[in-house]
Amino acid sequence: MVFIPLLMLMTHKKLERLHHRLLVSPCVLVGTMVDGRENFMVLADVMHFQYSPMHFAISCGKNHHTTRGIQEHGAFSVSVPSVEMLELVDYCGLVSGANQDKSLLFEVFQASIAGAPLVRDAPITTACKVVQEVDIGGANYLFLGEVLEVHVMERCITKRKPDLKKCKPFLISNDNTYRLVGDKVGDAYREGMVLKRTRTGPSSSNGN
Ligand SMILES: Cc1cc2nc3c(=O)[nH]c(=O)nc-3n(C[C@H](O)[C@H](O)[C@H](O)COP(=O)(O)O)c2cc1C
Repeated sequence: MVFIPLLMLMTHKKLERLHHRLLVSPCVLVGTMVDGRENFMVLADVMHFQYSPMHFAISCGKNHHTTRGIQEHGAFSVSVPSVEMLELVDYCGLVSGANQDKSLLFEVFQASIAGAPLVRDAPITTACKVVQEVDIGGANYLFLGEVLEVHVMERCITKRKPDLKKCKPFLISNDNTYRLVGDKVGDAYREGMVLKRTRTGPSSSNGN
């Protein structure tokens, strides 16, 4: 039997730095047009901020071919690929459009805005207009984009919403492995309700 001192189970170790990411991030495909051709890269540093109108923030290496396209058109697409697309998606992270033509990897359709090729095979594909480019002096630009269009595959919709089980997105973890999304463990805005009532009383509300 392995003996682990109780103290070791509870203490934290200070690391020099985080390796890549805080455990997991979603994998998306960012699409652009560069020199008249579609180009796609895989990107994990994506978040939405502000829901109405919805905006995305994406962090893109300054030297990426994609970055040239985004700056050229002030637009990009963000698509959520399904696990069936994993090999092609990983390929988009291994090679640069500067050296290899990635324009024929995916069937695309046009958004109302130029420079944001939408991916037909992706369960969710969106077109964004750049509203701001942020440079804090590192290796990446942060592009803030307003989401102008959202397209969801009909077969991936349940009750008028994209259905996680049908979309089958995947994550990238801090050990550089791709992962499926795990089991449901609770309902947001419900699991803390009893605590909220017992600790703050029935009348208090924060609006949620
Ligand atoms: C799983 C994965 C996640 C990635 N996430 C990012 C990211 O968030 N930002 C970034 O700039 N590059 C990221 N990359 C690297 C780019 O996808 C890669 O450099 C790509 O070849 C750039 O293509 P481009 O030069 O055609 O734009 C990631 C790569 C992989 C495999």
